[in-house]
Amino acid sequence: MAMEIVILAAGMGTRMHSAKPKPLHDLGGKPMLARIVDTARAVSPTRLQVVIGKGADQVREAFAGTDLEFVVQAEQLGTGHAAMQALPQCDPESRVVVLLGDVPLLPSHTLEAFAAMECDLGILTVDVPDPTGYGRMLRSDDGSIRSIVEERDATPDEKAVCEINTGVMVAKAADFMRWLEQTNQDNDQGEYLMPDIVGLALGEGGRVAGMKADHPDDVQGVNDHLQLNRLERVFQRRQARALQRQGVRIADPERFDLRGELELGQDVAIDVNVVLEGTIRLGSNVTIGPNCHITNAEIGDGSVIKPNTVIEGASIMSDCSVGPFARIRPGAVLSDEVAIGNFVEVKKSVLGKGTKASHLAYLGDATIGARVNIGAGSITCNYDGVNKHQTLIEDDVFVGTNSSLVAPVTIREDSAIGAGSTITKEVPARTLAIGRGKQVIIKGWEKPRKGSNR
Ligand code: UD1
Ligand code: CA
Repeated sequence: MAMEIVILAAGMGTRMHSAKPKPLHDLGGKPMLARIVDTARAVSPTRLQVVIGKGADQVREAFAGTDLEFVVQAEQLGTGHAAMQALPQCDPESRVVVLLGDVPLLPSHTLEAFAAMECDLGILTVDVPDPTGYGRMLRSDDGSIRSIVEERDATPDEKAVCEINTGVMVAKAADFMRWLEQTNQDNDQGEYLMPDIVGLALGEGGRVAGMKADHPDDVQGVNDHLQLNRLERVFQRRQARALQRQGVRIADPERFDLRGELELGQDVAIDVNVVLEGTIRLGSNVTIGPNCHITNAEIGDGSVIKPNTVIEGASIMSDCSVGPFARIRPGAVLSDEVAIGNFVEVKKSVLGKGTKASHLAYLGDATIGARVNIGAGSITCNYDGVNKHQTLIEDDVFVGTNSSLVAPVTIREDSAIGAGSTITKEVPARTLAIGRGKQVIIKGWEKPRKGSNR
């Protein structure tokens, strides 16, 4: 049977107190709506529509280039009204699953089982310890579903019910439409409420059935930042556990954040407060120290990233040592056995095998050979205020401390630069270049003293 999916994501998201539409708030580094769309796609619907409203342009832009079908709900008159914007485009005979755009952790296996339910109207429910804010499932004595009552419309007795409506429903498109057309705004929120179709379906003698989700976290809705944070931690804990099962040593799963995709080898160790974003590849025996932020990077076998290091868009090969307090920026390529120490910044530069910059350096727009030593305080002056220029340093060069290499400039192989030099011209191979003021000794000079008028 053909199955279509409609995702409701037009709501105001008032409780987020944000200029950003709620579906675009990230969970695990990805917009909540993108997570639901992935889940929906996993069950191969014949059609996938997303109802948008608040910040519709922003949502469209965030999903530009995808084949999502957006339907605009111009006025947010409730979940029932939102569904009615998409249903006319559905094949009337199709089963339609309605998903909410703010339920980001719904597992695809739950969706799959739910969609296959035999009934006229199916409702995904769950038992929660604290049902505050959710629609309560009201059942008759024989256990059959009677209705759903929203928190705002519920009596104290009804509020005590801990089985809630997850908002996920399934029915034939034509049935949904017929029921929804009969709903009204006669409730505390003055909206057309999706849950009101329960009574209408029952009134027609339809079979209304519930399916309980495995775990509240799977179907938890996000209405505010407290709930978003709670689900973020659930999501991170689940990821950390999965990685631990794969053999990763994670110092503390409560202080681990992966906001993207992680591919890894064996015996990887990740210390506390490490944030990994985008696409990350860690080879075998990689160690990441505490408080590192790593974005879109690959780190080869045996490399060690020491505490408080920031890496973005970089490729670090095997057996490198980076940090503590290093900043490796986009376009940095560190070949095997490179050592980068504290307060060293590397940008758009390739460093050859075994090259070292152990303290306080800036290497930008440079191509550096193998076994080069960059002294403390040395920098490439790559920017003239308008354009960026290249520095080329060949193999086995020794750059003395506190040198300024004014680009464009080339330092040929096996040469050395004296400490404190400003290098503006090519340094030939196997020479020593010194570019600094000569030391002067002034004899008989008297140190100023307190109270003297000199
Ligand atoms: C809804 C359910 C509630 C359920 C809960 C589960 C209704 C009336 N209530 O409540 O029974 O327990 O979800 O999380 O359905 N939306 C639109 N257009 C609108 C209004 C909402 O597209 O006019 C979208 C929102 O963007 C959101 C979803 O529908 O993604 C749910 O809306 P929300 O206002 O968050 O409903 P809840 O109060 O959470
Ligand atoms: Ca909600």
